[in-house]
Amino acid sequence: MSTNNGYDPGLAGVLAAETYLSHVDGLKGELIIGGFPLAELAANATFEETVYLLWNGRLPTQNELNELKEELAGLRPLPDATIKLLREAANDHTTPMDALRMASATLDLGSSDANHLKTAKTIVARIATIVASYHRLRQGEEPVAPEPTLSHAANFLYMLTGATPSDARVRGLETYLNTVVDHGLNASTFAARVIIATQSDLVSAITGAIGALKGPLHGGAPGPALDTVFEIGTAERAEEVLQAKLDAGERLMGFGHRVYKVRDPRAEVLSAAAEKMFKADGDMALYELAKTVEETAVRLLAIHKPGRNLQTNVEFYTALLLHGLGLETDIFTPTFAIGRTTGWLAHCFEQMKYGRLIRPQSRYIGEMDREWVPVAKR
Ligand code: ACO
Repeated sequence: MSTNNGYDPGLAGVLAAETYLSHVDGLKGELIIGGFPLAELAANATFEETVYLLWNGRLPTQNELNELKEELAGLRPLPDATIKLLREAANDHTTPMDALRMASATLDLGSSDANHLKTAKTIVARIATIVASYHRLRQGEEPVAPEPTLSHAANFLYMLTGATPSDARVRGLETYLNTVVDHGLNASTFAARVIIATQSDLVSAITGAIGALKGPLHGGAPGPALDTVFEIGTAERAEEVLQAKLDAGERLMGFGHRVYKVRDPRAEVLSAAAEKMFKADGDMALYELAKTVEETAVRLLAIHKPGRNLQTNVEFYTALLLHGLGLETDIFTPTFAIGRTTGWLAHCFEQMKYGRLIRPQSRYIGEMDREWVPVAKR
């Protein structure tokens, strides 16, 4: 929706940054991260390798990787004040995404004199502990202490349940975290860049980005997307349920994208990862149902909004994969944040180098020559 003066309320198509981090081509359905086609990186890299790649512009050597893994593992435990806050939030039935937003503001507790890189590592390490600990507290269980011998992804799954996860599940989660690690100038990344560009600090930037990610038009869609699959229940009901939603003016969650006008390449990668994981360690019937729901939704959307090219986005198969990993729907978006934090921080580093305040303009369209009326006469 753009006006004749070139103003677009959603800034669609406006170029606002140059980046070495990721390239998104919405017409070709292409996503490059740190120079690698998504499918190449997502399925092969450990999450720690991806962190190193985005922050250093190249893959680590074995020694560099070992060092990073060890350092992140050592930074996982949360300060007492953060745990206390999470307990209060659980008593108050705060949603996991709100609890993450509250706790994220405490991420640099005890490390206020650290350099930027150390703060960034602390943020990445602790975000996963916050999400897992809060999930346990909400279930009325005590948090599970992080296990330093496990990788970032394996330890997150371990902290959720107290059980060491299978290799298939760890690979499934690593593929997911790599897939969502960065995606051009999306809303939450833009928010982080705007904040850090004021010469604020990394924790403020990440807290703001978490707030932006929370909304259902951005990172909040996978829970509702899975709810739709469950509501449909069996393949024969897909058309009826989805059509009823469209007739009621609802949006189908997990479909449509501002940039992609073809199938989101992340949906491709996550669908393959979900299939692999469900085959090794899960429920293939649910995977087959999701495939039918996807096909039906894309077909109905083409009829409902012709010419809009509403295709499957990342959230649809995120929902399926994370469900297959045993995650509850209310921690899907916080888990997205665990992956995306690395990208937010990498963008902050880029923005800090660039060093220019982000300050666009608005056009005033209000009245110009009002006369003051004293309160007694209004
Ligand atoms: N279901 C039904 N109709 C849709 C959908 C959908 N999923 N997506 C877009 N439309 C319709 C809109 O109603 C609009 O119709 P209109 O022009 O007749 O009013 C048209 O298609 C264009 O939609 P916009 O909202 O203008 O497109 P925009 O680029 O702003 O939206 C968005 C992109 C927000 C993702 C949208 O497609 C949507 O709401 N999808 C559902 C929510 C979702 O899956 N969000 C996750 C996105 S992925 C991510 O951020 C990680």
